[in-house]
Amino acid sequence: MKARPITTVKTIVTDVKEAGAGIKLFSLADPDQWELPPFRPGAHIDLHLPNGLVRTYSLCNEPADNKRYVIAVKREPGGRGGSRALHDEVAIGDVLGVSLPRGGLDIVPGIVRYVFVAGGIGVTPFLSMARHLEQTKQADFTLHLIVREEVPLAAELGSLIEQGRVVVHRTFLSGRPDLAPLIGKSGSETKVACCGPESMIDDFERVTTTWPAANVHIERFVAPPPVIDPDAKPFTVSLARTGTDIQVRAGQTMLAALQAGGVDIATSCCGGICGACKVGWIEGKPIHRDRILSPYERERYLMVCVAGSDADRLVLDL
Ligand code: FES
Repeated sequence: MKARPITTVKTIVTDVKEAGAGIKLFSLADPDQWELPPFRPGAHIDLHLPNGLVRTYSLCNEPADNKRYVIAVKREPGGRGGSRALHDEVAIGDVLGVSLPRGGLDIVPGIVRYVFVAGGIGVTPFLSMARHLEQTKQADFTLHLIVREEVPLAAELGSLIEQGRVVVHRTFLSGRPDLAPLIGKSGSETKVACCGPESMIDDFERVTTTWPAANVHIERFVAPPPVIDPDAKPFTVSLARTGTDIQVRAGQTMLAALQAGGVDIATSCCGGICGACKVGWIEGKPIHRDRILSPYERERYLMVCVAGSDADRLVLDL
């Protein structure tokens, strides 16, 4: 069967820097110093690590800084292994494959103010967005950074903190602040965004329920536990380009069935939050379950790591 093409870019690690709070900054560049594929502020890339793992990280440099990708990685001793591999095994001069950047913030005409709410290392995508907005002056912004005590990426955030564009809230002093007064009132000219632990995202979703969906942006870095639907029925996935049918058993993920059928699918989080496994669908009734696609995108795409089907047959653009 014909494999689905996976587009990766070869990069070389040009700098590794300690950034405090167990975080390292990695700079990746084209081996011949060409410009890298462009990205939106706060976009993500999938890193193909030497041990075979694929992990997704937010870019924290700004799009105009187009000859490198900079990621901030916190070493998580109890994590799934990606941050440990990067911290312990990757050094300057190593070659890493990265995906094309995806996601990030759409700078929309008409939005005059952005309010970002970040928890700890969740600040990384907003650092890129803040730098971009500071340089382009396309809109006003405030970044509320909620930390226990130590500020991550303190050196990178220093001047923004001094200017009052980044407001640090330390929870060890007074607990987590109420998010409602931080983001202010809903309005068509304001866009709000959050990245942090799941409990913070839950709070953020609660206080933005009345906001227009287009003005609310959420970045997740921890996939929720996989959903096993006890009522799931088997279904057939038809691959439009190859004319192949693949059966998905009850309780099996579409991703597992496709991989068992020899279809090469890029993955990273396997929990519907990173977008690596996004595939177009043509016919059927997908049950989406991902946490990133907008209603508009869901009319054309699904994430095969978490999506199911509410019909006997689902036709994919593969
Ligand atoms: S692998 Fe991350 S959304 Fe499917």
